[in-house]
Amino acid sequence: MEILTTLGEIFDAEGMIDVYGVQIAGVSYANLGEAGLEFLTEMAEDGKVRVLTTLNPAGMDRENWQALGIDKEFAKNQNRAIDAFAKMGIITTCSCTPYLIGNAPHYGQHIAWAESSAVCYSNSVIGARTNREGGPSALAAALTGKTPNYGYHLEKNRHGQVLVKINAPVKGTDEFGVLGKIIGDKLVELGKKIPYITGIPSATVEELKSFCASVATYGGTALFHMEDVTPEYNKYPKPTEIIFEINQNELDIARGELIDEDIEVDFVSIGCPHASIHEIANIAKLLDGKKVKKEFWITTARPTKRIADDVGYSKMIEDAGAKFAADTCCVVAPIKGRFKGIMVDSAKACYYGRAKNKFKVKIGSIEECVGEAIK
Ligand code: F3S
Repeated sequence: MEILTTLGEIFDAEGMIDVYGVQIAGVSYANLGEAGLEFLTEMAEDGKVRVLTTLNPAGMDRENWQALGIDKEFAKNQNRAIDAFAKMGIITTCSCTPYLIGNAPHYGQHIAWAESSAVCYSNSVIGARTNREGGPSALAAALTGKTPNYGYHLEKNRHGQVLVKINAPVKGTDEFGVLGKIIGDKLVELGKKIPYITGIPSATVEELKSFCASVATYGGTALFHMEDVTPEYNKYPKPTEIIFEINQNELDIARGELIDEDIEVDFVSIGCPHASIHEIANIAKLLDGKKVKKEFWITTARPTKRIADDVGYSKMIEDAGAKFAADTCCVVAPIKGRFKGIMVDSAKACYYGRAKNKFKVKIGSIEECVGEAIK
């Protein structure tokens, strides 16, 4: 509660509000280190969560870490961290798409989530309300069931500020990621405003989750409105002040920026944010009867993987030589230096593939990623 009241004072909060659910980030031992683990252990001595709480991806697949080449010592430490979370009553499903696996708020509900792509999705696509929490403040919200009432919890801070007009068709997770990069980059120039986007007639859950991950990564965006797509688009006045337009030419240039010259792809990864059962079904169909020739990960939430097991998609994918990496992803797993070039359908994974893991990167559609893996 001390963490939360201090935050509330800093941001001039209008008191405390109850939260429906929490999602905690900073779960990978690579991020936590011994200091973070010590903090968690101390909290777990007598702390118990009061609301539904899940975790962001960890540094490894808890069941399949050996097959993914994770070091034994790292696995031991990662499990110590997960055990501390479990002791506090947290559901130790490690996923950045909590909204696909039951940690799903309804329109208007207050939550305290930490993963940037999920924060953007819950605020914008669901119409729930959350600030972008840090690891300790999300944990504090879980242990108390409260969060300070400021920022995106308040109606007055949720209206669109920058009008963005899209004049080209946008389709697929990769293109929505490219669009998120363009808008994110522009928002940084303009000082991180809430975009109101027009010109997208419809979008799938998968396209929106990719867009959210990208615009949150490149622009620090936690909320956007998309005309005819997101639930609050006509709740507030449409902005008219600053307008920028995006044409096919801008989309082509931005896509080019996400493909490194002379890349040699030796790793393909799909599932940033974590793959939905739709995406896994599509990958299974594309891989049916084929063999992959490169390391190929499908990163997803454990409950989604279990559905894929039940309906036979996992077998089709694993028979082709691809691997599931549940609970983790190609960014938080400790794989720096293991590969030269990564191909993904996610603009966010391109950003961190370069910045964190020092890989060369290439963006493409799911079909193009599978094509590269079997080439
Ligand atoms: Fe999720 Fe990892 Fe991407 S946490 S959004 S799969 S970088």
